[in-house]
Amino acid sequence: MDDRLITSSMTMEDEQIEYSLRPRFLNEYIGQHNVKEHMRIYIEAAKHRGEPLDHALFYGPPGLGKTTLAAIVANEMGGNLRVTSGPAISHAGDLAAILTNLAPGDVLFIDEIHRLNSSVEEVLYPAMEDYSIDIIIGKGPSAHSIRLDLPKFTLIGATTRMGMLTSPLRDRFGIKEQLELYDPEDLKEIIERSADILNVRIDTEGALEIASRSRGTPRIVNRLLKRVRDYAQVRGNGEIDLETARAGLDMLAIDEVGLDSVDRRMLATMIEKFGGRPVGLDTIAAATGDDATTIEDVYEPYLIQLGFIARTPRGRVVMPLGYRHMGYAPPADMGQQKMNF
Ligand code: ADE
Repeated sequence: MDDRLITSSMTMEDEQIEYSLRPRFLNEYIGQHNVKEHMRIYIEAAKHRGEPLDHALFYGPPGLGKTTLAAIVANEMGGNLRVTSGPAISHAGDLAAILTNLAPGDVLFIDEIHRLNSSVEEVLYPAMEDYSIDIIIGKGPSAHSIRLDLPKFTLIGATTRMGMLTSPLRDRFGIKEQLELYDPEDLKEIIERSADILNVRIDTEGALEIASRSRGTPRIVNRLLKRVRDYAQVRGNGEIDLETARAGLDMLAIDEVGLDSVDRRMLATMIEKFGGRPVGLDTIAAATGDDATTIEDVYEPYLIQLGFIARTPRGRVVMPLGYRHMGYAPPADMGQQKMNF
């Protein structure tokens, strides 16, 4: 389902756009005000002491700028950024090779860090704690381990699933920051910055329209900007105003709050087939064709933020706002149902 226009997973086109649009320093980074403020202080303090930054963990839904922040940390600290991911490191030796090739002050970014396997994780513990690793030399009775010192580096882990991190790993991060969905005002600023870089003319209402249909996600805002730019170029005069933004987004079947046909099908199924009763995640997954993890990590956070659905111990329920958005009257006993969660 990653061909959905509103997917927050990285597509190949995103990789190219994101590279050119990515802010390089904290003062260019829009939104995430708390995270930014915290990082500004930690970075300044570490630089003042002449030490590397403490290891940091960024968590939250995809597309919110975890990799971008890691790159900013490296730039601000004056180190190199090395990028890898949990699934890419399958053996302890792979991680040892990466770690021993770092230079002092480097930032090692591990995306999807919850997917590291346990033998790899064990190499990471002493690396994080003491900047050293133990390597086993030889096999059988003559095997022995030697301790290798590593340069002082900063590990930045990113995850969409904080709950799947083991506690020993989680505890070794001195800095933990949660990234949240962006509000439309911040997204509007991002889109105006991107439009400037891409040389697209866009007015405030046009920017706000695209922003409010982008599910709180910069990656989506930048993608929709490119699609609306195409539309404005072919059907309009190349400039994006409220009218072209609306028409372009309607053509893409993204509704006024950013839902696409898959979201709407999911809500419709929950209302029409289950009559508003709690529905299990796997049942929703079967009904929409998405896998349960994708629904939970990627699509639900936005529907929850909108107040359209809620997670309850007995399953997902559609909330009154969700009913109204889909053109249904909420059930009369909705208030009662809420009390029973
Ligand atoms: N592009 C993507 N995310 C951004 C952000 N948070 N600030 C500025 N530009 C961005």
